[in-house]
Amino acid sequence: MKTELLARLAPYGQQHLVAFWERLDSAARRSLARQIREIDFELIARLYRHKDDRSDIGELADRAGPPPAFQLEAAENRFSPEQARDCGARAATDGHLGVILVAGGQGSRLGFEHPKGMFPIGPVSGRSLFQVHVEKIIAAGRRYGVRIPLYLMTSPATHDETVEFFTRHDRFGLAEDDLKIFCQGTMPAVDAATGKVLLDQPGHIAVGPDGHGGMLAALAGSGALEEIEQRGIRHLFYLQVDNSLVDICAVEFVGYHLLSESELSTQVVTKREPLEKLGNVVEVDGKLMTIEYSDLPDDVARRRNADGSLVLWAGSIAVHVMDMVFLRRMAGRNDILPFHIAQKKVGYVDPSGRRIEPEAPNAIKFERFIFDLMPSAANAIVVEVDPAEAFAPLKNAPGAEQDTPEWVKAQMAAQHRRWLRRAGVEVADDVPVDICPLWALDADEVAEKIEPGTRVTEPRYFC
Ligand code: UTP
Repeated sequence: MKTELLARLAPYGQQHLVAFWERLDSAARRSLARQIREIDFELIARLYRHKDDRSDIGELADRAGPPPAFQLEAAENRFSPEQARDCGARAATDGHLGVILVAGGQGSRLGFEHPKGMFPIGPVSGRSLFQVHVEKIIAAGRRYGVRIPLYLMTSPATHDETVEFFTRHDRFGLAEDDLKIFCQGTMPAVDAATGKVLLDQPGHIAVGPDGHGGMLAALAGSGALEEIEQRGIRHLFYLQVDNSLVDICAVEFVGYHLLSESELSTQVVTKREPLEKLGNVVEVDGKLMTIEYSDLPDDVARRRNADGSLVLWAGSIAVHVMDMVFLRRMAGRNDILPFHIAQKKVGYVDPSGRRIEPEAPNAIKFERFIFDLMPSAANAIVVEVDPAEAFAPLKNAPGAEQDTPEWVKAQMAAQHRRWLRRAGVEVADDVPVDICPLWALDADEVAEKIEPGTRVTEPRYFC
């Protein structure tokens, strides 16, 4: 077996992957052989060779303009919010909506030792992110008299614990056939200086999930795509697990998507500062695309209009509606999503077999991003939302400036406090409140549930 593997590895200079073969027992050898056979070394070699090809991004960014968008304050939007809400609500009532939640990331910045979706985020209740999302889906289904299925993507890094967590909590109330958990693929990490694939143990290759864009292949490969179609779902509402405020199945957003006959729609917020760490949704040659913040040259990011506003103002919050016909078409195109390069710290074993924990980024990882579907989508649209009502991502460990657990909890409590106050409830700024979506999904539902004049003086969970 070793000879066969060496023959496969030699053309790419990757023979070191079997350097510890003699130390491995037969099960470990079989497992390593399986890993090696699954890797497309030709692809890895090509990606590594082109790792520094970024010149085209700078040129592209230079030509980028702001995207046409449904803006919060714009009077000239093609459709009114009422029109959009009616249209979106009809799609929901007709059972055409499903939800796709991507939760395969390793959450390295947060430093939580479980899948990020398990993080207890409810400001009073301590509910997990997964529970918050699922309860919104169930509540939306009840509102429109349908069952909205959830397709949940994990990765080998998060799969088993996620499945166990959902089982332990009876899927947080979702019916068994309304939840499908499927696992995305992986890509090996390579040494940044040499392009050699890293071993994280003598018998194991260092791999990471292949990016949220891995969703496309995973949907098709797991059979989920077919199930979704067979169920009559026509539009998938896409969200990422870390956004605690995402307005799941937002019918106004869905309505703009449908009225515009868009194949892929994206929520954006107005960037507060030029270098904010959000993907930049821009228009180039009449096509929408997203340029990562790390790829946008500073001088382009800082360009301003005469009134002082940013030219490239639209920051993606990675909330989409996707048309199923479009996804089916794209799933057949293996080349449609390029791989991006990320420099990361990856623990590895050195030639002597010693495990090394690097202090600085030593490795390159390859990831696909779902937003790269944008230029291929017909009539793609952008819809601006208010971040206070729709965006509070959990990214960083306590102590960072933003996107930390404390910050996210404060954003959630602030939203719920606003909803309560709009219903005439008295609640002070320093009193944490937390509303279960099954009790009220928005400010209007809060107003139906509670007496104006009610005073809330202690932390309270409305459920
Ligand atoms: P991020 O890019 O923020 O990555 O993912 P992350 O893994 O959560 O955190 P860091 O960068 O390691 O600190 C954005 C969303 O995409 C999902 C994540 O789970 C999160 O919902 N994702 C990311 C995947 O589903 N798969 C991936 O391979 C990468």
